[in-house]
Amino acid sequence: MEIITKVFSSHSSDRGNLTAIEGENEIAFPIKRVYYLYGLSHDLRRGFHAHKRLEQYLICIYGSCSVLLDDGKERASVKLDRPNVGLYVGPGIWHEMFEFSKDAVLLVLASDRYSEEDYIRDYCSFLDYVQGA
Ligand code: TYD
Repeated sequence: MEIITKVFSSHSSDRGNLTAIEGENEIAFPIKRVYYLYGLSHDLRRGFHAHKRLEQYLICIYGSCSVLLDDGKERASVKLDRPNVGLYVGPGIWHEMFEFSKDAVLLVLASDRYSEEDYIRDYCSFLDYVQGA
């Protein structure tokens, strides 16, 4: 499985750092939705789903967390602990987020608005979906 991470450039100076991300520029898709997770627990996992069409970049803009990616054949885990690094999660990838630091803020840039229709929330259905694809 190909793991796609992207380092977004930062404007850094003695005044601090600024990272800008433009849809259809730094990332390929137009950004139609932004959401973020915070107030998370180290012991609880989130996600447990795949998308049929949605593309996303996950950026841990504060603290750290890990992301499990599963394409139905292989699994890989990626630790996110830098505010200027994005992890691409495309369609047909089962993902789980875990080991959140207490202060973690996970920002997600998504290619479309929220649609429950686009979710596969059952792991067996996910395997059927990717194996039939
Ligand atoms: P959920 O998909 O269960 O979160 P996670 O997979 O990270 O554990 O989403 C939690 C709730 O938030 C659920 O009721 C759906 C809702 N939600 C929205 O309304 N809009 C969104 O953009 C997202 C991602 C979730």
